[in-house]
Amino acid sequence: MKILHIDCSPRIESHSRRLSAAIVARLLVNNPDAGVTRRDLGREPIPHAGPDYATALSSPGALAAGLSNGAVRLSEQLIQEVEAADVLVIGTPMNNFTVPSVLKAWIDQILRIGRTIGSSPTGKKVGLLQDRPVYIGIASGGVFTGDRANQPDFLTPYMTAALGCAGLNTLRFLPLQATAFLDHERLAAARDALLAAVDAAEMGAAHPHYSQ
Ligand SMILES: Cc1cc2nc3c(=O)[nH]c(=O)nc-3n(C[C@H](O)[C@H](O)[C@H](O)COP(=O)(O)O)c2cc1C
Repeated sequence: MKILHIDCSPRIESHSRRLSAAIVARLLVNNPDAGVTRRDLGREPIPHAGPDYATALSSPGALAAGLSNGAVRLSEQLIQEVEAADVLVIGTPMNNFTVPSVLKAWIDQILRIGRTIGSSPTGKKVGLLQDRPVYIGIASGGVFTGDRANQPDFLTPYMTAALGCAGLNTLRFLPLQATAFLDHERLAAARDALLAAVDAAEMGAAHPHYSQ
């Protein structure tokens, strides 16, 4: 089994990093021989879509040129990291109701028409990636889901739509909320509850494409 572990917080002492690391540790309990690939978008951000990449995506002809001049090399590398993984674990803060820009930059490289997104004869978008579980540990200073939500949530619908476009539909959101208000003990208890949900999800997981 292979795990792709992605972090998005710029902070080292970070709630979303602690959560994603705990999710990976939980997965390793059941799969001790699993390999873990790291992609630390928070500490080593990838560039936003630049002119060469944007040009390459502008037409089929430009894409052919982009494939040979290196303009889509990073995109290809990041897609291959996803393809090689049986499970993705993403740790991310909520920034201004949605994903931080480093995660958006990654999505801009992952979603590519003709590579990870196809279309049906009627023009409907079809994801070209094989589905696999994606755990998304979210740290938010406030509350965005549940009875006490007091702000909009553009993060979970956005991730659902964006990754779904590429065929990744088994998303498991694990929100660690109110990090700005909860003390250490209550945050630890909230994190433990989320990890219990990971255990429950894994017990029911079939993981048809594990390649050990
Ligand atoms: C630029 C920025 C925007 C933020 N926007 C939100 C927000 O919209 N909603 C929220 O609940 N918290 C927001 N926060 C707070 C973070 O989500 C919170 O501090 C979280 O714990 C950060 O994750 P980390 O601990 O993994 O770094 C924001 C923080 C920053 C720095």
